Amino acid sequence: MSTLKTEIVNGILTITINRPDKLNALNRQVISDIKEAVESGLNNKEVHGMILTGEGPKAFAAGADIAEFANYSEAKGEELSATGHHVFDKIEHASKPIIAAVNGFALGGGCELAMACHLRVASENARFGQPEVNLGVIPGYGGTQRLTRLIGRTKALEFLITGDMIKADEALRLGLVNHVVTQDELMNKCREILDKAGSKSPLAIGRIIALVNTCEEGGNTGFQDEIREFGRSFGTADFKEGTTAFLEKRTPAFTGK
Ligand code: COA
Repeated sequence: MSTLKTEIVNGILTITINRPDKLNALNRQVISDIKEAVESGLNNKEVHGMILTGEGPKAFAAGADIAEFANYSEAKGEELSATGHHVFDKIEHASKPIIAAVNGFALGGGCELAMACHLRVASENARFGQPEVNLGVIPGYGGTQRLTRLIGRTKALEFLITGDMIKADEALRLGLVNHVVTQDELMNKCREILDKAGSKSPLAIGRIIALVNTCEEGGNTGFQDEIREFGRSFGTADFKEGTTAFLEKRTPAFTGK
């Protein structure tokens, strides 16, 4: 994959957008490569979690690639947005946890990519924003929806209509990110969270992500779905192992079955 670097260490797939000279701007190739990398992580039994980040100390991703879409027609613009939505939905609905390690600018499509991930850990120098209004366009990869869900209508509307950037500490205060750490600690913090989740039942984690997504998407079947999925848990080897291990006072060894 030309636009990404990937590596798997201890069951964690790290996907690094590798266009630092363009502040990791998301062109079509990057979006397509991210889709492929995430799919490979989902299909790989050795992988229990993923980290998405950007190469270099300056940017996670400074947005969709402006140079690429500057001359697009309405139809091409809509198609670009649909393509991005498809990939970001895949991330949001992934059955394995995906953390955005936000190591600098997360603007426009970069902020939207981070918001599609299940969790966000930011370095102190991270900056978030949806500056599309400066370009006479609107967010096209879910920004109007996910930002509003994550931080609420009041602040979301302010950031969306002003294009203002916010610093990591404000993002933390608003609930946009889970943690803020130094740049040196960023990847370790993400790994620490995924190591913890990786010791739990993968089946339970996948079901929890799906149910939280149902809630966030405003579906009214969430409680009913939870009752069904709770029941289904009882038919899994993971449930047997988890309860048996508790009663035998030992650490469970989950198999995801
Ligand atoms: N698309 C395409 N190229 C981008 C880009 C983007 N979204 N963001 C940055 N780049 C490129 C710049 O054009 C520049 O390329 P060059 O060296 O070939 O001229 C390179 O990345 C470095 O960016 P630069 O603007 O010189 O860095 P800076 O530190 O002065 O400013 C930003 C950083 C993030 C404030 C500025 O790059 C910016 O505003 N980027 C666009 C953000 C945006 O509007 N995103 C939403 C897009 S829909």
